Amino acid sequence: MLLLDIPNRKRWTMPREARRSYAEHIPSPNEKPWKTRRSASSNQSETDKGSPVSEACSTFVLTLCWYAPNSGHARNVLTGISSENHVGKGDGVSMTKALLINGSPQQKKSTFTALEQVARGLEDNGVSTEIVWLGNQPVKPCVACGACNATQRCAFGEEDGVNALIEAVQAADALVIGSPVHFAGMNGSLKSALDRMFFAAASSFACKPAGVVVVARRAGTTAALDQILKYPLYAQMPVVSSFYWTMLHGQNGEQVLKDEEGVQCAYQLGANMAWLLASIAAGREAGIAPTKLENRAWTNFIR
Ligand SMILES: Cc1cc2nc3c(=O)[nH]c(=O)nc-3n(C[C@H](O)[C@H](O)[C@H](O)COP(=O)(O)O)c2cc1C
Repeated sequence: MLLLDIPNRKRWTMPREARRSYAEHIPSPNEKPWKTRRSASSNQSETDKGSPVSEACSTFVLTLCWYAPNSGHARNVLTGISSENHVGKGDGVSMTKALLINGSPQQKKSTFTALEQVARGLEDNGVSTEIVWLGNQPVKPCVACGACNATQRCAFGEEDGVNALIEAVQAADALVIGSPVHFAGMNGSLKSALDRMFFAAASSFACKPAGVVVVARRAGTTAALDQILKYPLYAQMPVVSSFYWTMLHGQNGEQVLKDEEGVQCAYQLGANMAWLLASIAAGREAGIAPTKLENRAWTNFIR
């Protein structure tokens, strides 16, 4: 499993004072977020991450990671996490690959944990996975400029990595979108990114299986799941389901893992997606071509 940031996305670091007041208002029993932390697997401290030098290095290395070949071992320099791409039961060459977008502004908390469960279900069934983090910088909304009509790329997309995301979806065989629930919907930056990605390039995502997971502390999961499903349903992407709606509960990864049914549901989504990918590959071998959309109708509700 590869863990990636979007190339060219800067990382915003909460100022020390703001971190302290945030922590005072929302006490966490397990951790003090204002403290400089070094994760067990990382040589880079939280406070180091905002420096221009480390950002430049991260961007450079992550750009390489993004395009790293889909086999063998990879190390994400930003997170320090070593991953094997879990080529598992496949041969590492003809492997199908799923891209998982973590739409949370928090890199490795609830949504990440939920996506990890989907990734396990995929990897256990021979599909390699990449989890890409949207980051915690604001993502511009679509301004309806229409420039993407001609290019299938967003006019702002080079600035904030949205075009890199479009290309990553195009290169992947399947897509999983994960979001925290924010006011009974998806995270705002994720909505901005998805609006721009799908407005620009939805037709190029057609026939790639898609799945969605959402995580809430308590409520709003149904509305958020429905909201996100609108994107694959618009883009002719076969939507993969599980044995229940893929909603998990918790305020952090530890709590999410206690939602045993949610964890299993996310895992099963990954396993079902792997099955569908294998079925599509078998269909392709047998000469079954994807459908084509001829002369798309475009009728506005104006009479
Ligand atoms: C702006 C904001 C709005 C939120 N709205 C909701 C909500 O409507 N319902 C809910 O249960 N939790 C809500 N939460 C809590 C998050 O959904 C929850 O903590 C989730 O686990 C965060 O996922 P993450 O750790 O991946 O960011 C909200 C959190 C934030 C920051």
